[in-house]
Amino acid sequence: MATPKVVSPGLHPQLVKLLEADTYQYSKGRPHPLSYYYLSRTAVRSIASLKTLCFLSFLVIIAWTFLSRRSPYSNAAWEKAVLQSSQRQEGGQMTVLVTGAAGFVGSHVSLALKKRGDGVVGLDNFNDYYPVELKRARASNLEQAGIFIVEGDLNDQNLLMKLFKLVHFTHILHLAAQAGVRYAVKNPLAYVHSNVGGFVTLLEQCKNSQPQPAIVYASSSSVYGLNSKVPFSEDDRTDHPASLYAATKKADEVLAHTYNHIYGLSITALRFFTVYGPWGRPDMAYFSFTRNIVEGKPITIFQGPHGEELARDFTFIDDIVKGCVASLDTALPSTGSGGKKHKKAQFRIYNLGNTQPVKVGDFVSILEKHLKKKAIRNIIPMPSTGDVMFTHANVTRAKHDLGYNPSTDLSTGLHIFVKWYKSYYKEGAGHEDMLKGYKPY
Ligand SMILES: NC(=O)c1ccc[n+]([C@@H]2O[C@H](COP(=O)([O-])OP(=O)(O)OC[C@H]3O[C@@H](n4cnc5c(N)ncnc54)[C@H](O)[C@@H]3O)[C@@H](O)[C@H]2O)c1
Ligand SMILES: *[C@@H]1O[C@H](CO)[C@@H](O)[C@H](O)[C@H]1NC(C)=O
Repeated sequence: MATPKVVSPGLHPQLVKLLEADTYQYSKGRPHPLSYYYLSRTAVRSIASLKTLCFLSFLVIIAWTFLSRRSPYSNAAWEKAVLQSSQRQEGGQMTVLVTGAAGFVGSHVSLALKKRGDGVVGLDNFNDYYPVELKRARASNLEQAGIFIVEGDLNDQNLLMKLFKLVHFTHILHLAAQAGVRYAVKNPLAYVHSNVGGFVTLLEQCKNSQPQPAIVYASSSSVYGLNSKVPFSEDDRTDHPASLYAATKKADEVLAHTYNHIYGLSITALRFFTVYGPWGRPDMAYFSFTRNIVEGKPITIFQGPHGEELARDFTFIDDIVKGCVASLDTALPSTGSGGKKHKKAQFRIYNLGNTQPVKVGDFVSILEKHLKKKAIRNIIPMPSTGDVMFTHANVTRAKHDLGYNPSTDLSTGLHIFVKWYKSYYKEGAGHEDMLKGYKPY
């Protein structure tokens, strides 16, 4: 007995017949008549759902209008704030986009540029790698000085396009990055996102701008990696990084070279050596040392495999600011347009350090003196998370080309830092809670 065919109910009897007929002839690549039936049925249903579709698109249009009106980038107040911030005052020579303007270095350089009359617009995504309140507080200092910080991500192409259309930037000071060596173990992709993806997005925008701006950006002393030759000179090898952070900064240097070579962008890389000072980064050792000493908590000091002490070439923020400003002042214009360069463009790399490495133990002793309090020292072997044993800058080149001359010794610089720290966190209005529960990596 033949197995009964299962036919769905509600089908036209004609079709049922067809279905029960031998379907052999239809298997040879010819469409089965049923397919026409299903096609037409779908069409009818579609027309019925057209009403729903219309209604849905109506909703989408309403939502779109609402959202785009709410977008901070397309309203008149936002544009006005950007334009106002970009205005040069008397004595101003350039219009600068400072990325990472709510950051430690970015906030200081922005203020210095504004002070001498340059037009300054900031860009920062205010991410929460360390307490955002500190970034907000820096931003409010900038706001008081007439500097507007665009809140957005480097990777937002549309935002960059909008911004560059609105303002003709003569210079870019690119300081936005995912900083910190140890956090890279926990969140490597944050480094790739900001330091690699974000940098390329910015370079693309600069390359397409007409005229192209000149770019000065932050690299890092960490690119010297496992170098053992001291002091570190710009021409030394930088192809053996010891951390993912360092690897992304090295990537920036080679990406920068590519854009310089193909598109004629004028680019200057600044390799900063452990920058410290007021409004500094709470994730850095000098900051958490200070906090722990003040709070009577132990501090952790790393030691090398043979009991050696770590040493750092600590550089005071004011010296770094001078180096950044001098780099902008000596940057030559870019030479490209229409996707190619018209002649060789400037390509520079400078160390910005202090040239005097200090052992971390000695550093702590200076801190104790300024804080008038003893540290509880907890000395442990250095974890293998990418910190190098020492850094030491050769700044001959920066001295020669930029007139860079670091003039703040560690004791003076730390004195200024401690004064700021105490006034900000103790006498400040409620700031003492800001770092509660925050543990640097
Ligand atoms: N402070 C140092 O000792 C030191 C040493 C070597 C190199 N550097 C480099 O100098 C630059 C400035 O460092 P800092 O100490 O001021 O750090 P910071 O973290 O205080 O400042 C960086 C700022 O960039 C912003 N940012 C990060 N990713 C972003 C993104 N995708 N889009 C928009 N904004 C983003 C952050 O919110 C932050 O405010 C960084 O490039 C850093 O890697 C610093
Ligand atoms: C420091 O750098 C300069 C310029 O790059 C170089 O000529 C000099 O040899 C370096 N000095 C040392 C001690 O490495």
